[in-house]
Amino acid sequence: MHSQVATDYSMTASPGRVLPVAERAAGCYIEAEGRRYLDACGGAMVLLLGHSHPRIVEALERQARELAFTYRFSFRNRPMLELAQRVARLAPGELEWCFFNSSGSESNESAVHLAVLYWELRGKPGKIEFLSRVTSFHGSTLGALSLSGSRWRAPFELMLKKYAVVPNADTAEEGAAALEAAIQSRGPDHVAAFVIEPITGSSGAAVELPEGYLPAVREICDRYDVLLIADEVITAFGRTGRWFGSEHFGAVPDVITFGKAIGGGVVPLSGLVAARRIREVIETSPSGFSYGHTFSGYPTGCAVGCAVIDVIEQEGLVEQAAQKGARIRADLEKLQARHPLMYALRGRGLLQGIELRDPAGARFPATRGISGALTRAAQNRDLMIYACPTPVGNQHMDAVLIAPPMIIGDAEIQELFEKLDVALEDVEKTL
Ligand SMILES: Cc1ncc(COP(=O)(O)O)c(C=O)c1O
Repeated sequence: MHSQVATDYSMTASPGRVLPVAERAAGCYIEAEGRRYLDACGGAMVLLLGHSHPRIVEALERQARELAFTYRFSFRNRPMLELAQRVARLAPGELEWCFFNSSGSESNESAVHLAVLYWELRGKPGKIEFLSRVTSFHGSTLGALSLSGSRWRAPFELMLKKYAVVPNADTAEEGAAALEAAIQSRGPDHVAAFVIEPITGSSGAAVELPEGYLPAVREICDRYDVLLIADEVITAFGRTGRWFGSEHFGAVPDVITFGKAIGGGVVPLSGLVAARRIREVIETSPSGFSYGHTFSGYPTGCAVGCAVIDVIEQEGLVEQAAQKGARIRADLEKLQARHPLMYALRGRGLLQGIELRDPAGARFPATRGISGALTRAAQNRDLMIYACPTPVGNQHMDAVLIAPPMIIGDAEIQELFEKLDVALEDVEKTL
């Protein structure tokens, strides 16, 4: 198949490297050019139910035949109403007002629009700035990239806002003080919202909020009339062993954004769920909330989202994510004893990060590309894991993420570890 494609006119994500052409996938495996890869990261932490789960494909087919698309300014549709009901029922606290998009970036943009509109309607039109954490990734559209502290900013730096200025902090006290200082330096009348990831994804590989951090920043946000937005594009819907990642950390944000998993790997689907008090304000505006995209809330996507939640709920997969995550973590600890490259382990449930350092405990320079080298070594051993090279202040951190689907079985976990073991050896030989 691959050899028949004479010239590649597609923009490749890996210049300088010819990637295999994937032909089919099911469950935890992807087949490409005669090889079978164990997918332990769902591309970019996308899959909770594996590839092409039969119930998800069935929901997609059924809805596409019945009512594939409607435009939100002309019609409501039943899958959208039902998905909003499911998300409102599962979301913590008073979070209940939903809006759907197609990508995580879009949903973070919608959260930005929502926050600005909310403060305008509350008589504070000057609140148009945002704050986020230095080590973070919120998406690649310009607003979401402005919120991100990631390396992807670099070529566009001059176009972007400097929102990602709040240090990630090791303690709740430091975190609260850093946020308060940032709000004061911008001026509380200008700051609309503070955006966090409860557990980071590509930025730093599963760095968690410190104990007490979320309640502490919640209190600062309330004191200065700043909304708290949790980017749960990776952590929503059970990956970390709770329905929402912020539920681990003892406070409820005003808005949660989500993406990736809710589309079941078969459609691009994302969204946000906002607090009742935001709804009550925005519903007083004649235009309501209209800042979405062409496919916002379209029925095919939303029907898939409903099926994803139903399967997770009916099969008790959130609890399974916690249990399987605990087993994977225990196995990672055993592996760590044999591999000096595995400097630190972190994460929850099926979002497990491994920080990589040299045998003396020093960070590798960015130019060494060690996290990329490990993921390539893993792919050479037919295992897919995710590379997270990240700037941390003036330093560089290398890490990888293991983020398998909730349906991963015991034999597949064992296979994952056998392959990871040899991939680590392959890289350690080059050090
Ligand atoms: C935490 C987080 N937020 C937002 C995004 C952006 O999502 P998308 O790539 O679907 O636009 C990502 C993507 O990796 C992410 O990890």
